[in-house]
Amino acid sequence: MDIKKLALPHLLDIKPYVPGKPIEEVKRELGLDDIVKLASNENLFGASPKVIEAIKKAAESVNFYPDGDCYYLRRALAEKFGVKQECVVAGSGVDELIRLLCVSVLGPGDEVVFADPSFVMYKISAMAVGASLAAVPLKDSYMHDIPAMLDRVTDRTKLLFVCNPNNPTGTIVNKADVELLMKKVPDHVLVAFDEAYYEFVEDADYPQTMEYFKQGRNVAVLRTFSKIHGLAGLRVGYGFMSEELAGVLHRVRNPFNVNSLAQAGALAALGEDDNARRVSELTWRGKKQLYKELDRMGLKYAPSEANFILVDTGLNSQKVFEELLRKGVIVRPGAFLGFPTCIRVTIGAESDNRRFIEALEAVLP
Ligand SMILES: Cc1ncc(COP(=O)(O)O)c(C=O)c1O
Repeated sequence: MDIKKLALPHLLDIKPYVPGKPIEEVKRELGLDDIVKLASNENLFGASPKVIEAIKKAAESVNFYPDGDCYYLRRALAEKFGVKQECVVAGSGVDELIRLLCVSVLGPGDEVVFADPSFVMYKISAMAVGASLAAVPLKDSYMHDIPAMLDRVTDRTKLLFVCNPNNPTGTIVNKADVELLMKKVPDHVLVAFDEAYYEFVEDADYPQTMEYFKQGRNVAVLRTFSKIHGLAGLRVGYGFMSEELAGVLHRVRNPFNVNSLAQAGALAALGEDDNARRVSELTWRGKKQLYKELDRMGLKYAPSEANFILVDTGLNSQKVFEELLRKGVIVRPGAFLGFPTCIRVTIGAESDNRRFIEALEAVLP
């Protein structure tokens, strides 16, 4: 069987997503016991106990299909954010919402604009539907170049992603740049703001993009329970968009795209604002700790508004990654992220961060 004849040719050009190395895999491969994973921007402070309780309770009913409408979760999100329930789409993580947006609006020949390097799923999902990519290099190494992104918009552009804060750099697109984008972008372009790390942002110059949604602009705002609420393993994210666009996503999504444990956990997490605040404060504290240590070591890093930091080691990051692995510290090597000399490290508790710094000091020349 010739796969080139069977599969759609444009799919064979996709480089598969490379996830952070799982703890169990490192245990198996290196025979290590004590491992800290700082590779996937997970919440290292854990989900709130009330959320775990809600998930356990929901487990008693797993013989039933989930609510395919995510009625209670979407209703709670609509109330919390002051929007119509019809404008809320729940998904199996923001990953799925990115995929659904691409499937809903892009076809072969349509164009999608995004920053590069940025979150790789924009590229993968757009390639999966045969769209043409306009990948716009970051400026000053780490920042979205909004004027350059606008320059790439054409009559064929249907979708433009803004990753804010950006993964893997952690940098934000500020109010003025988003204002410029929204002033200049033609109405036929759907602007998708991926705000997976929204709750971690400290900078007062961070834009509130929900306002554009509320003004009826052609935008989608994507958020997740994976990060601030510590529910990455459950896979649940949500998006705000026009009722009409939401209707298209509902047509193409799987009928039960958010499982019942995820719905119960996410609903409970919405009542846990104190826990969310605690996680963001601990993350900020961890960020300061890491900045101080990285400064002391003379290492360059991108200014982060998220729960991770992109650190430039100046070396082949695959080698640094492998040596850190042998010390039981999993980070993300930069090659796949578009920064071959950098490693991306998730901010954890004080002891996680210390362990990372000690290992890094031992590994670097
Ligand atoms: C910018 C960005 N968007 C989306 C996601 C995926 O989030 P989810 O877990 O909700 O699928 C990630 C995950 O790391 C991310 O960094």
